[in-house]
Amino acid sequence: MAKSVLLVTRRLPQAVEARARRDHDARLTASDTPIPSAEIIARAQDAAAVLTCPGDHFDTDLIGALPDSVKVIATFSVGYDHVDVTAARERGIAVCNTPDVLSLATAECALLLILAASRRAGEGERLIRAGKWVGWAPTQLMGVGAAGRKLGIFGMGRIGRELARLARGLGMAIHYRDVVRLPEPLEMGAIYHDNDKSFLAECEVLSLNAPGGGSTRHWLNAARIAMLPRGAVVVNAARGTLVDDAALIAALRTGQVGYAGLDVYDGEPNVHPGYLELENVMLLPHLGSATVETRDAMGFLALDGIDAVLAGKAPSNLVR
Ligand code: DGY
Repeated sequence: MAKSVLLVTRRLPQAVEARARRDHDARLTASDTPIPSAEIIARAQDAAAVLTCPGDHFDTDLIGALPDSVKVIATFSVGYDHVDVTAARERGIAVCNTPDVLSLATAECALLLILAASRRAGEGERLIRAGKWVGWAPTQLMGVGAAGRKLGIFGMGRIGRELARLARGLGMAIHYRDVVRLPEPLEMGAIYHDNDKSFLAECEVLSLNAPGGGSTRHWLNAARIAMLPRGAVVVNAARGTLVDDAALIAALRTGQVGYAGLDVYDGEPNVHPGYLELENVMLLPHLGSATVETRDAMGFLALDGIDAVLAGKAPSNLVR
């Protein structure tokens, strides 16, 4: 039987490409950067499935221009704000993502940002690289510790809960804000807030772990930043669109926000130039899920979803 045509829009980990080649007539790419929409459309001819990534914009136009042969789009990510799911559904195209398998890696990255921002690791590294370190000094680069501090998690889904578990090990007290309260066993003692004001007032450290998209766009704006305790630490390993960059940069300048750690950016790979001028920000290039085992697992889960749809079965990772 002829293998189904699978279009892959980005270079993938070796083991994932090997499986894609084994099971499909795979149209792979060596490119690490997004390919233009026109090329995606041209390369999708006769394809039954597309495996895509954040950074590719599967908007209404692109989805509308895909050939009728396409039955499933799987994204190599848990976030699917770059895929117009409604447009796909209207064309009878299933959309799959990669939940669960990246929760721990992404939570580890959020924790890395919390510690690196609070302990001024970026500043310290830049000091050494600039050849300006003159040696240990009692008052040098003093930051703030994590133990005993209150961590507020905006978005207590799978990643938020993993972060809470890790942060408890550091002695942090967990507060959270979400649309609804979790069932008690999942809270593990975390304190729920049903409004921004009471939540933000507790956030000595604020971690953004909510999905991107219209409903959370610029959630962290000037008004909400003003509700944080002065000097709070803010980290974002979710989506850059959650933050109003101009407001956060202004707050980092005045000290209303003491330190920030960012892994994601609105309009990435562009980074607001204001961040680059500030010492009190730790910047990472969207590597939340970037461990070898996690990236393999994400690729396999995306392929599982594709295989299920093409076999006429319901994938466990179908976006609804
Ligand atoms: C995701 O999965 O949505 C991440 O941002 C990519 O790791």
